[in-house]
Amino acid sequence: MTDRSEIYQTLLPQIKSLLEGEANLIANMANVSAAIFEALQWHWVGWYLVDEGELVLGPFQGPVACTRIAHGKGVCGTAWAQNQTQLVPNVDRFPGHIACSEHSKSEVVIPIHIDGKVVGVFDIDSTELNDFSEKDTAALEQIVNMVAQASDE
Ligand code: SME
Repeated sequence: MTDRSEIYQTLLPQIKSLLEGEANLIANMANVSAAIFEALQWHWVGWYLVDEGELVLGPFQGPVACTRIAHGKGVCGTAWAQNQTQLVPNVDRFPGHIACSEHSKSEVVIPIHIDGKVVGVFDIDSTELNDFSEKDTAALEQIVNMVAQASDE
């Protein structure tokens, strides 16, 4: 597991300025995916948005992914249903994990709230087992909150 503190120290202010003056949720999700993907070189970085009772693929960077995920299904649907960050060190040990890519080994999923409601989830996949720490989830939760706060939705 890598200590990425220095990367986050540069990345957080960069994301803050990316979000400044832009309130469009999709535009911000797109740029944040790109900034994180570039800085940390994970396998897949992106968003799913709640749409008529399911999660639908939103802006992302990385290989093509599943487009729809039901409430409570997979890591993403669980993060949404439980309204809680899911830190998964080994996806093969997560019951019901949805394998969009055979290369994904560990995963973190964070719900995004706007006006107290979960409007989607932020999902990151790594090709390394056990690639995410509590420090990663703390920094990524901060980024998700920044995106939510910038939004006018
Ligand atoms: N693995 C996720 C599905 C989304 S992809 O990883 C991009 C899940 O189990 O919900």
